[in-house]
Amino acid sequence: MPCGSCRWQCVLGLFWLTQLWTAVEADFPEDTYPASVLEDAKLSTVQLLAKYKYPGETHTVTTEDKYVLQMHRIARPGAKPVLLMHGLLDSSATWILMGPHSGLGYFLYDAGYDVWLGNVRGNRYSRSHVKLNPDTDKSYWSFSWHEIGYYDLPALIDAVLAKTGYQKLSYFGHSQGTTSFFVMASTRPEYNAKIHVMSALAPVGYMTNMQCPFIGIGHRVLPMIGEGQEILPYFKGFSICMMSETVMDICMFYFWRMFGKDPPETNMTMLPAMFAHVPAGANSNQFLHYLQLQKSDRFCAYDHGEKENQRIYGRSKPPDYPLEKVTAPVALYYTQNDYLSAVKDVKRLIKRLPNVVENHMYPYKKWNHMDLIWGISARRLAQPRMLEVMQFYEANGAQNRTESKHEDTEDSTTTEAAQTEETEEPEGFLSHSLKYIMNYLFYD
Ligand SMILES: *[C@@H]1O[C@H](CO)[C@@H](O)[C@H](O)[C@H]1NC(C)=O
Ligand SMILES: *[C@@H]1O[C@H](CO)[C@@H](O)[C@H](O)[C@H]1NC(C)=O
Repeated sequence: MPCGSCRWQCVLGLFWLTQLWTAVEADFPEDTYPASVLEDAKLSTVQLLAKYKYPGETHTVTTEDKYVLQMHRIARPGAKPVLLMHGLLDSSATWILMGPHSGLGYFLYDAGYDVWLGNVRGNRYSRSHVKLNPDTDKSYWSFSWHEIGYYDLPALIDAVLAKTGYQKLSYFGHSQGTTSFFVMASTRPEYNAKIHVMSALAPVGYMTNMQCPFIGIGHRVLPMIGEGQEILPYFKGFSICMMSETVMDICMFYFWRMFGKDPPETNMTMLPAMFAHVPAGANSNQFLHYLQLQKSDRFCAYDHGEKENQRIYGRSKPPDYPLEKVTAPVALYYTQNDYLSAVKDVKRLIKRLPNVVENHMYPYKKWNHMDLIWGISARRLAQPRMLEVMQFYEANGAQNRTESKHEDTEDSTTTEAAQTEETEEPEGFLSHSLKYIMNYLFYD
């Protein structure tokens, strides 16, 4: 352990040194990106909504265990409510940051909905508690996505229903926004009755076949960082990736290694906004819990170690989440080049969910973990069907229950963007060397 952490500090030190070095010979982003995009990078969710002339609101919600969450709203009073939950290290901004011509939040609002954008505990908007101070109280950081599912989602759902007067809402989750939903709907099954339909974008339950090349690093580095540590918090509109073109290249390299490489679907003009809004902060336990799933080949509660497990669960191993209790209609949308949510794992999840109403695997071979919310073609090729399915289950309540069809047979020629030849990005000497060093250190 002492040796290990020294090595980790060395790596970090080296990393920052190279960052500084590259920054010195920086190309300034001001020369490369439109002023409007650089401005978007600095605005908060409600400021973005105001800039693009949408009626943004902020609502505060306190959970049963006294965490104070901020929920944003694109307000259409009286209209049917829909709640959108972001993924790990992300925030409410994810649904709108690509702009009115692209974001799912705008799309649903324009389609006549009252759109609510949640934020989970620990991120930049929800880093608050009635009693605990996240900066000084270690016990603030004693949660993973289990608590997000068990406490945050019910609180947010109840708040939306109370404020709108509706009995039910529709739910969209991306990545961790789906994991936490499955936690909620299986451990507090009474909440299923409050959901018209849950749309799972890049769903994550089982993680056994995750291809992300950072799993090895994760298993080594996260235990050194330890449990209950804040990870990658938000720094006031400052993004390390924006320091220079070279650093940007490096960020893109890691972005694609993390989520799956898909340059044709990535709007390069928007990089400042993407990298400034994400990461938005999380707890190391959220990562640790995911790594436990990957290692254990199960979808189960947090493993605290045998002794603690005995005390908390009354058994040495954490219990599986009872997915058979997720009775709300679930529509799943997933992609084939998703390094975090493997097709095989999604299919296993589908087998265990009792009420799957849409099983939608996109035929575009390169679509990755982020493309369903940030991808250039998402508005055209994904959002309309999501809306159609949602409207169907809102109107009928009845189930179309056509045994997991819609295994897409669409021809992939329908997307020019997804078809464009991959252009290898030119690589500077510095970024090349840095990658080489990082790879050497991490993949030995
Ligand atoms: C990329 O983003 C810019 C800036 O928001 C936008 O003007 C442009 O239309 C986007 N490109 C595509 C292909 O969507
Ligand atoms: C439900 O089934 C009908 C008839 O088979 C079909 O036309 C419709 O598109 C389906 N709706 C959804 C949301 O799958």
